[in-house]
Amino acid sequence: MRSITVAVLFCTGYFLLSPAFAHPRGEWTRLILTQTWPQTFCSVEQCKTNISYWTLHGLWPNSGSMCNSSWHFNASLIEDILPEMEKFWPDLLIPLSSEFWEYEWLKHGTCAAKAESLNSQHKYFSKALELYHKFDLSSVLRNHQIVPSEEYYTFDVVETAISSFYQVKPKIQCVHPQKGGQVQTLGQIELCVDRDFQLIDCEKSFEVIWSNEILPVSVSGHSDLSVCDHSMPVYYPPVLGTSHRW
Ligand SMILES: *[C@@H]1O[C@H](CO)[C@@H](O)[C@H](O)[C@H]1NC(C)=O
Ligand SMILES: *[C@@H]1O[C@H](CO)[C@@H](O)[C@H](O)[C@H]1NC(C)=O
Ligand SMILES: *[C@@H]1O[C@H](CO)[C@@H](O)[C@H](O)[C@H]1NC(C)=O
Repeated sequence: MRSITVAVLFCTGYFLLSPAFAHPRGEWTRLILTQTWPQTFCSVEQCKTNISYWTLHGLWPNSGSMCNSSWHFNASLIEDILPEMEKFWPDLLIPLSSEFWEYEWLKHGTCAAKAESLNSQHKYFSKALELYHKFDLSSVLRNHQIVPSEEYYTFDVVETAISSFYQVKPKIQCVHPQKGGQVQTLGQIELCVDRDFQLIDCEKSFEVIWSNEILPVSVSGHSDLSVCDHSMPVYYPPVLGTSHRW
């Protein structure tokens, strides 16, 4: 009897705190879909790539990290989407390995999985691919005449192209120049969605969450990728070997 009373009181109190009821403490409210420009990544890390489209880095909930270390990544659960994963979510450091997916799953996927819509490896990875294709960043930039080039862009042109198309604020990250340099290099673009996967503004307050998430496996410990400087020209590097520097 007593336990029933306690349970009723508990539930009533819980219900009254309706925002908490909708999203119990610790649950994420937004996801960050992060895409990488492979040429920039490989100019900082030790890799070579001829990929000429934006690739997936991750789909990160705004709350939680490593939520269930016993929920192991298992590639056979996503066998049907592996060809797509290899193409659009490649491990740039160790081509054709699944280490990157394993890392992203354990760190972020196990937390995203607190939502029913993402509570399996197949749901998580296929939703990331679905959003990646839906937002189609490579085409959006190209359609705004922003293409990899030896010419520089103003930051404003890049940001306006993205925000005017998606109607939300993206988060655009650059590799900052060495001392004395005059140009920053476009590296990563983040788009944010709510729990219904609708685009919403990315917020500055997310900084804390992803400040330790700069590059997937930061071999060399580089941490020079951060929010672009609004007043510095932007370099969007072409694929190695196709540039025409004379
Ligand atoms: C990129 O490199 C891979 C492996 O070296 C090769 O198979 C592929 O044809 C190249 N793609 C382009 C567009 O050059
Ligand atoms: C963690 O993952 C394992 C394996 O999928 C599962 O059995 C367990 O219920 C999960 N734990 C929590 C707290 O979700
Ligand atoms: C991976 O998943 C497959 C398919 O469900 C299952 O048969 C296999 O035992 C799993 N492997 C591991 C190591 O858990």
